[in-house]
Amino acid sequence: MFKDLKQRWKVNELNLLLIILNFAAGGSLCGIVGKKILGFTGLEKGFAWIAAYLIVLTLIWPLCVLLVSIPLGQFAFFKNYLQKIWARMSGKKKPPLQIAIFASGAGSNAQKIIKHFKDSPAVKIVLIICNKKGAGVLSIAKSEGIESILIERNRFFKEDAYVNYLHEKKVDFIVLAGFLWKIPPLLIQAYPNKIINIHPALLPAYGGKGMYGSNVHEAVIAAKEKQSGISIHYVDELYDHGSTIFQATCNVMENDTAASLAQKIHVLEHTHYPAVIEKLLTTKSPLK
Ligand code: GRF
Repeated sequence: MFKDLKQRWKVNELNLLLIILNFAAGGSLCGIVGKKILGFTGLEKGFAWIAAYLIVLTLIWPLCVLLVSIPLGQFAFFKNYLQKIWARMSGKKKPPLQIAIFASGAGSNAQKIIKHFKDSPAVKIVLIICNKKGAGVLSIAKSEGIESILIERNRFFKEDAYVNYLHEKKVDFIVLAGFLWKIPPLLIQAYPNKIINIHPALLPAYGGKGMYGSNVHEAVIAAKEKQSGISIHYVDELYDHGSTIFQATCNVMENDTAASLAQKIHVLEHTHYPAVIEKLLTTKSPLK
């Protein structure tokens, strides 16, 4: 239970202890103050007293825990905690997370992801970023009514890496789906642990520079592997290197060609990538 709370509230052991103490001390303070307040009303103990006591407790509890949180150094946590409770009670909805998809090619993965989140209240695909004129993904963006831009090498690698543009568009998370340029450090620093990629093999094997498209499948077949698959991983400053989030496998048969293997891999990608993104972005204890 404590492990769950630590994860859910993203705190260390000491803070968790202080938070629990805060709940207990805030609750006691609330009980004492509540009784004092009721003392002024002159109500006799009975049903009306209990009802009034419960109402008073509900009203002053937030104030009491906040008050206690100051000396315990937990004010920021409790302010946030109470705001969340208030948002839930008042029915205020959380705005959807805004996703940008980066792609260079046909865009079949982008298409599946767009379809998956079409009616999602939690996740919205707001932008397609492409580095290749005429790429299929640009037509997909157009037909789906999603804004797209063609980016320039110089600005991406030598200027702001489009960070200002992504911030302007309020992009929260980046999904790479067949994007062939290496992600520059500036962009990784602007979106720490918020950029993921899909690779058409079982990393760490068959990853790295030059390992894209049919090169990957040809290498897998040449090595007479019995299995290949997909890897969904966080993006860091090296090619295909960040920590793995998810993998799925498929068999490689003796008569498989790069094209037939690519087809099997695409099926795996289309089945899993949208679901993994959803799990990552919407569960309380994210995969990382
Ligand atoms: C996918 O196989 C993906 O793993 C790789 O590039 C390919 C993109 O395919 N990174 P598509 O453009 O989504 O059809």
